[in-house]
Amino acid sequence: MAKYRTAIIACGTIGRVHARAWQGVPGAPVEIGACADTHPDARREFGEFFGIAPERRYADYREMLDQERPDVVDVCSWHRQHAEMTIAAAARKPKAIICQKPMALSLGEADDMLTACERNGVKLYIAFQRPHHATWARARELVAAGAIGKVLQVVIDDGGNVLNTNSHNIRLALHLLGEETPQWVMGAVERTTDVMERGIPCEDRCLGLVGFDSGATLLIQGELVGGRGPVGDPRRRLGQGARVIGTEGILELWTGRPSDDLLRSDGDMAQPEGSSAKYNDEWGVARYMSATTGGWVDIDAPWHDCWARQCEQVVDVLEGRLDYASATSNARNGRVVTEIMMALFESARRRRRIDLPLRTKANPLALMVANGDLPVEWPGAYERRARLVRGEGMSWHEN
Ligand SMILES: NC(=O)c1ccc[n+]([C@@H]2O[C@H](COP(=O)([O-])OP(=O)(O)OC[C@H]3O[C@@H](n4cnc5c(N)ncnc54)[C@H](O)[C@@H]3O)[C@@H](O)[C@H]2O)c1
Repeated sequence: MAKYRTAIIACGTIGRVHARAWQGVPGAPVEIGACADTHPDARREFGEFFGIAPERRYADYREMLDQERPDVVDVCSWHRQHAEMTIAAAARKPKAIICQKPMALSLGEADDMLTACERNGVKLYIAFQRPHHATWARARELVAAGAIGKVLQVVIDDGGNVLNTNSHNIRLALHLLGEETPQWVMGAVERTTDVMERGIPCEDRCLGLVGFDSGATLLIQGELVGGRGPVGDPRRRLGQGARVIGTEGILELWTGRPSDDLLRSDGDMAQPEGSSAKYNDEWGVARYMSATTGGWVDIDAPWHDCWARQCEQVVDVLEGRLDYASATSNARNGRVVTEIMMALFESARRRRRIDLPLRTKANPLALMVANGDLPVEWPGAYERRARLVRGEGMSWHEN
């Protein structure tokens, strides 16, 4: 019998990824005890797929938390619900909560989540899973050992909006920089249509530069450069990954995944975005070169599901084998990502460099949108992820 029980809030794509991750922790110390989703089909399909008894599938997540009293809670809902659900879960005092990225919509929300968890003695984790890729962990060790000299700049370039996609890469950059504290952020955003992502306004493009005391900078290129192409093509975007430029060399990280026909199936839970196992079955790619390597050197390490490794760290902290402060996905590390993204928006709002710590607790992009400071050229709000929503609504927040 498993030692701990987790309860999963929101049974969509990422809820499935979390469930597989717990099942993948060596020794299976955590069982999926209960689930909650407002949509009856999502509850039933998820419950049947992961073997959760019908009486442990809830429409109201608060009722689930009160009835089940789980050791761990997984918050797998859309961005707008992360703070509310994390705070509600913390009030029931589980041992740990693992919440999806982005941590929150604003620094104020992130701080509320931290406060709620601290006052209830709950360890909070933010699911930026990719630093747990085996090859990327090895890459970090090589950077720390000076394989490319001192880091001058980390460059990230994913498409999409910063909260959704480059939030991962900002987390990766901070991890590669040894969790160095950022000092300032300068940024710009473009928003020509009234685009929303998972219930909140987002930007079309952004550009940011983050400064660190060591002299390193992080360059954030959001939906600005590149596309698909062969490795080595300068027009090819790394996407999920980063390019680290050092005084003595360069290191690159990106991801790969099996072709769709090789992915584990979602069975009856099928959704338009394809099998959720694309996240569990993903791998990290990494390579570096320096004056001494004579060309690119591939970084190898045996594959594991990076999500399962993230969950394993949660268990290691529960059992005293790892300090919470040293856990890669601890919420303090997630907060820094939030602070950088909000400072980028604040820099665009105030048209100046923003020295950290950031004092603005609101979401400056949402403020600019609400105040008309970012007038759209083509009016009319639309939700980028509307096709994930079942029923008549165009957002989960309308249902
Ligand atoms: N870490 C990653 O690589 C990664 C990848 C994809 C998505 N995500 C994140 O995961 C989160 C969820 O995204 P998704 O793609 O799984 O969404 P999804 O649309 O597939 O699933 C959302 C689920 O939430 C349910 N829901 C809505 N309101 C609810 C409520 N009040 N109580 C309980 N359930 C409710 C819906 O019925 C739906 O089943 C997002 O914040 C996204 O950023 C992270």
